[in-house]
Amino acid sequence: MAKNVGILAIDIYFPPACVQQEALETHDGASKGKYTIGLGQDCMSFCTEVEDVISMSLTVVTSLLEKYEIDPKLVGRLEVGSETVIDKSKSIKTFLMQIFEKYGNTDIEGVDSTNACYGGTAALFNCVNWVESNSWDGRYGLVVCTDSAVYAEGPARPTGGAAAIAMLIGPDAPISFESKLRGSHMSHVYDFYKPNLASEYPVVDGKLSQTCYLMAVDSCYKNFCHKYEKFEGKQFSLSDAEYFVFHSPYNKLVQKSFARLVFNDFLMNSSSVDEVAKEKLGPFATLSGDESYQSRDLEKASQQVAKPLYDQKVQPTTLIPKQVGNMYTASLYAAFASLIHNKNSTLAGKRVILFSYGSGLTATMFSLQLRDSQHPFSLSNIARVMDVDGKLKSRHEFPPEEFVENLKLMEHRYGGKEFVTSKDTSLLSPGTFYLTEVDSMYRRFYSKKTKESSLTPAENGVIANGVANGIANGH
Ligand SMILES: CC(C)(COP(=O)(O)OP(=O)(O)OC[C@H]1O[C@@H](n2cnc3c(N)ncnc32)[C@H](O)[C@@H]1OP(=O)(O)O)[C@@H](O)C(=O)NCCC(=O)NCCS
Repeated sequence: MAKNVGILAIDIYFPPACVQQEALETHDGASKGKYTIGLGQDCMSFCTEVEDVISMSLTVVTSLLEKYEIDPKLVGRLEVGSETVIDKSKSIKTFLMQIFEKYGNTDIEGVDSTNACYGGTAALFNCVNWVESNSWDGRYGLVVCTDSAVYAEGPARPTGGAAAIAMLIGPDAPISFESKLRGSHMSHVYDFYKPNLASEYPVVDGKLSQTCYLMAVDSCYKNFCHKYEKFEGKQFSLSDAEYFVFHSPYNKLVQKSFARLVFNDFLMNSSSVDEVAKEKLGPFATLSGDESYQSRDLEKASQQVAKPLYDQKVQPTTLIPKQVGNMYTASLYAAFASLIHNKNSTLAGKRVILFSYGSGLTATMFSLQLRDSQHPFSLSNIARVMDVDGKLKSRHEFPPEEFVENLKLMEHRYGGKEFVTSKDTSLLSPGTFYLTEVDSMYRRFYSKKTKESSLTPAENGVIANGVANGIANGH
């Protein structure tokens, strides 16, 4: 059986278009500080009319293969996680096959996984399980998380975002799975869902989704601790992992979630927290589960107690989610990418715990061990390839009015056919794919921006869907 199976390489893409949360607050007439301090968000990336989840995933997969010099023939499984529905039948994975078909590789298993923000985790588990299984053929797995998170006008709108992440899976990985250490919580709830197929926007019960998320954190942590005790023969506490990474719809919820873990540790073993913490959390020890989710005093006290540990174990994971927003399936892995960006030189030998949540609901807490590894699959090279600072710095800020205009155009185009986009790629870096046209049969056509031109589709980089030879002449 393959050993130390996990993530060998990562690349991330987020659109260059963004809007500052402070400006959005003013524009929306929200009280000053609501989005920036209240939700804890700094900025939000969004797709303009030339980008979507397919173009972003074409960009990130092409970039990963090029930058780590991976032969496309050596990919044997490709799994996509997304909740941004473009087609009810044809998977995003099949669009990505264009990259591999060119090299004669059509022998690639895997399709898309969907359940709100959890699809990426399902895709990742599928790939890791494949490499660990009898059906593994010795080739790489590839996981893509791609989403554009947009909300109707209202309180949820500032919790949008957009990104795609690609992760290469194989043995002897610098980011290896402790596959037995997983705790899940799955249940039937209507907290956030997308029943209206004519609209990209979800139906969301914001308050319920917050409570469901926190309940899932508690339940997954309990199940995780139980598994840890079963397989490791000792009790788990927060001190057994160096970092905790959360799915991040907005940063405030991450702060609250980590505080819940501290409260859980206190309840399971009060000697795991210091005297001051005991005194602060003691009064809440007898609350029922339901009462504890409603108690603002507990929320405040546990966040206060957790603050120093949060700064140490969670804060380094928050950069991209605060800057880019909720990326749905990509959100957790963008948080993890932030950790690699910030701490790559000191991560070897450390355990990192991840918490994945998808409304509806599905959630899992799982464990990774970080290890030294050879170039190109080293943590420092992953950080270099991702170039998070460079990508954040080269974004273009739009005023909120233009962000809203863009959303209106996207609403109009959603599910539409027979339109061409502006093909304006002035904001895109070379190598980025973009949508050029949706034809009368709803077939979508993409081009790749080359170094030379920003407005004309590339002769040799044209990628088309629905055309047998993969070349869309005239588009
Ligand atoms: C998350 C969501 C419910 C928040 O919207 P809302 O109900 O209008 O926001 P609130 O009134 O609760 O304000 C948000 C926070 O900002 C705080 N706040 C409000 N105004 C503020 C101000 N001027 N300065 C500082 N903080 C402020 C509130 O106290 C609250 O913090 P708290 O949760 O610690 O109490 C909404 O954005 C949403 O539905 N998002 C989509 C669903 C989602 O992401 N769910 C997460 C789980 S998947």
